[in-house]
Amino acid sequence: MRREVHRVVKVEEVKQEAKDVFTLYFKDNFCSSASPGQFIMVWIPGVDEIPMSLSTINQKGVSSITVRSVGEATRILCETKVGEKIGVRGPFGNGFTLKGSKPVLVGGGTGVPALYPLASKMLISGIKPSFILGARNAEQLLFKDRLQEILDDLIISTDDGSLGFKGYASECLGRLILEKKCDSIYTCGPEQMIVSIFKEAERRNIFVQASLERYVKCAVGLCGSCGIGPFRVCKDGPVFDSISLRAVMNELGFKKMDPSGRLIPVEK
Ligand SMILES: Cc1cc2nc3c(=O)[nH]c(=O)nc-3n(C[C@H](O)[C@H](O)[C@H](O)COP(=O)(O)OP(=O)(O)OC[C@H]3O[C@@H](n4cnc5c(N)ncnc54)[C@H](O)[C@@H]3O)c2cc1C
Ligand code: FES
Repeated sequence: MRREVHRVVKVEEVKQEAKDVFTLYFKDNFCSSASPGQFIMVWIPGVDEIPMSLSTINQKGVSSITVRSVGEATRILCETKVGEKIGVRGPFGNGFTLKGSKPVLVGGGTGVPALYPLASKMLISGIKPSFILGARNAEQLLFKDRLQEILDDLIISTDDGSLGFKGYASECLGRLILEKKCDSIYTCGPEQMIVSIFKEAERRNIFVQASLERYVKCAVGLCGSCGIGPFRVCKDGPVFDSISLRAVMNELGFKKMDPSGRLIPVEK
């Protein structure tokens, strides 16, 4: 069987992470050999098929996705019970590559879980990353305990100051770069956060890899629905480095395609 072919997997465990966020654990050989940053397509029969980053990769044969309920498909996924089945294909996309000896990972909202397998891989490779864990408020922080368990340097940042640094994760990053002399930045989260982080990094000449989102349908580079600048997020991304990010700066944070291919503004 090829990774592009649908498999049906049984949900082994469900963990509630926040009010509307759930992690679904399952076993799948292809996901077990994925790279951090890759995503899968999750099929909910009769509803939709949607992209989800892997939030665990092969912890004793188990992988996971972490889903925020924002619409019909994600709501149904969040209501999935242990023993029920979901369809998966993939993993797709390129994933992160390890660069630098003093990396900082910056995750915001549901972008945080996608960085967890990357942090784990860095530790296995002998690299000790700093991690800025950002959210609107303390209740919405994801993976805090899991990250605290494995990392020496976890910095919490909340927009409202209910825990840790008060302000945006990108502002917190500005201070950390000076303090730690970071030499690479990895980020996943809200698009405006990624734009701010990239601008901060460019000012200081630090290499960035960012995971981007666009409307993914086929996931194999055929339909063009995930286009950004000259790239397709599903095939050329979802991880883009500084060179590619420079090429999409007239779209990133400004406009994207909706399901019918019409250009619409990106949420501010
Ligand atoms: C590479 C990638 C990785 C992602 N990883 C995660 C993750 O780990 N956890 C998570 O909670 N969410 C993730 N998302 C976003 C997730 O795919 C959408 O929230 C989901 O598709 C919404 O579907 P819905 O039916 O619940 O909502 P809808 O009501 O259909 O849509 C709500 C919003 O979600 C977005 N969306 C809907 N369908 C798609 C689609 N096929 N592709 C991209 N965006 C879509 C649109 O912006 C839309 O406005 C990822 C998206 C991409 C592109
Ligand atoms: S989703 Fe079809 S080309 Fe990317």
